[in-house]
Amino acid sequence: MTNIQIAIDGPASAGKSTIAKILASNLKYVYVDTGAMYRTITLAAKQAGISYDDEQSITELLDTTDIRFEPGTPVQHVFLNNQEVTSLIRSTEVTNNVSLVSSYAAVRENLVERQRAIASHDNVIMDGRDIGTTVLPKAQVKIFLVASVEERAQRRYRENVSKGIATDLDTLRKEIETRDYKDSHRQISPLVQAKDAILVDTTGQTIEQVVDEITKIIKNSL
Ligand code: C5P
Repeated sequence: MTNIQIAIDGPASAGKSTIAKILASNLKYVYVDTGAMYRTITLAAKQAGISYDDEQSITELLDTTDIRFEPGTPVQHVFLNNQEVTSLIRSTEVTNNVSLVSSYAAVRENLVERQRAIASHDNVIMDGRDIGTTVLPKAQVKIFLVASVEERAQRRYRENVSKGIATDLDTLRKEIETRDYKDSHRQISPLVQAKDAILVDTTGQTIEQVVDEITKIIKNSL
């Protein structure tokens, strides 16, 4: 039997992981957060004392970088060579350097291979930037999730406040815009809506409304 593949792509902070996690739990599929994988490589470079612009050394690091996920609520646990890095990969430093690290060809090739391996033996909901275009081009369902920059910055701001992290809304907005720009303008598999992806705009919608909308799309497509 063919495995089911559901691809959810879109810009930073559009709600991909929140929605994908709920859908995966409802459908009993494996959730794959590919952004967490790029973040983990970025953190591995930091921990090894490698400069983010040192493509050669980061490439050499890939073979000894094990990335593992363990289910958890509300967030999946992420391990880098058995060290739990779930929170560390969300730091501002990692967030602001991950786009550079993820633009390197060897990094993308290596992680795409790991992502396809997971999808080869499980039904998956995979979120990222290039899932529908590159990683799983034959996915049965492709969603391109967007929201206005203003709303995405607001969501990130509220999330940070709830975690007790002091942030400035304007800075968050600029960081989101910068990351989107870099992700959309890199040479290899930039962030772009796949031709056969369905656009879902979550601006002004609740999580429940978005989950309902995508659940209907999935039912109609499978
Ligand atoms: O999804 P998240 O915001 O955690 O992704 C972090 C970064 O990882 C993105 O800004 C992008 O640079 C990179 N990424 C990517 N391809 C993916 C997923 C994430 O290049 N499939």
